[in-house]
Amino acid sequence: MKICVLPGDGIGPEITAEAVRVLKAVDSRFEVEEALIGGCAVDASGDPYPESTRKLAREADAILLGAVGGPRWDSAPRGQRPESGLLAIRKDLCLFANLRPAVLYPELAESSTLKPEVVAGLDILIVRELTGDIYFGQPRGIETRTIDGKRQRFGFNTMHYSEAEIVRIGRVAFEAARKRDKNVCSVDKMNVLETTQLWRDVMTELSNEYPDVVLTHMLVDNAAMQLVRAPKQFDVIVTGNMFGDILSDEASMLTGSIGMLPSASLNEQGKGLYEPSHGSAPDIAGKDIANPLAAILSASMMLRYTFSLQAEADRIENAVRKVLAQGYRTADIYGPGTKKTGTRAMGDAVLAAL
Ligand code: IPM
Ligand code: MG
Repeated sequence: MKICVLPGDGIGPEITAEAVRVLKAVDSRFEVEEALIGGCAVDASGDPYPESTRKLAREADAILLGAVGGPRWDSAPRGQRPESGLLAIRKDLCLFANLRPAVLYPELAESSTLKPEVVAGLDILIVRELTGDIYFGQPRGIETRTIDGKRQRFGFNTMHYSEAEIVRIGRVAFEAARKRDKNVCSVDKMNVLETTQLWRDVMTELSNEYPDVVLTHMLVDNAAMQLVRAPKQFDVIVTGNMFGDILSDEASMLTGSIGMLPSASLNEQGKGLYEPSHGSAPDIAGKDIANPLAAILSASMMLRYTFSLQAEADRIENAVRKVLAQGYRTADIYGPGTKKTGTRAMGDAVLAAL
């Protein structure tokens, strides 16, 4: 049971350290090896996804990632930006299925910016396609061209999906819905974009194989609106890479804090990269105030999806519920009457609750 740990940048190292402590506490058989990804890898080697990291990631059974990025690297050429490392590892390991659950813990209902009655009991799973779409489509670039008689810069990207790519992610969504409330909402922009017309057509055809699951369709602008108007109407949302990026950030905030949300990125063999949905938060890095719960819950998803250790995964989730019930709160979810807790102390509390 080999785990490759990629702490990354910003708060990444602090939060993954807590997740690793929890993993080792639930099962002593885990072998953990660390490597660089993102900005720290650029600093060390000029490459955000160095060969040594690639080797370790390929050999491991699962990967735990903290976060990548920071303002220091924002002006670097695209290939040397931390985000390119993340995109490269997703593509390299064919991690096409990104599962982003948005679950509201009852204790945190007050932390949401939405009214408690709108979000109470919220439990959504966003299934985001992760290795296609406009994120990876060619051609792409910024060039100087003559347009309307004027030399000027011109930026372009290409959105595309093959039928097979849509079927592959569609199956993940339908299968997941079977274990939940049996509703899939497919999100597209078929009124404007041909790629997503195909997306809708393929999802509709595929739904014939899942008669026990109800498939609905929604345009992405409407979905963005419905997520804040009446989020509990959703069970599983399936969508492409770019729409999924945007909607998953939106959904995360319904739950009070993006600091609570784990994610899994899986390939066809069930190998997975597990990471919090939040970013590297450079402004709070190194201060022992970041919320490690998303990283800890990502470790729990790893046990569930890659190692099929359901009881151990439940133990971690129950421990997280327990520390919330005990009133422990990092700054992002702190409120009157609760105990303000640092990163390390939150890890301690989860370990004690295990
Ligand atoms: C995410 C992030 C990444 C993405 C960035 C960091 C490249 O926003 O995982 O949602 O856009 O996929
Ligand atoms: Mg994002």
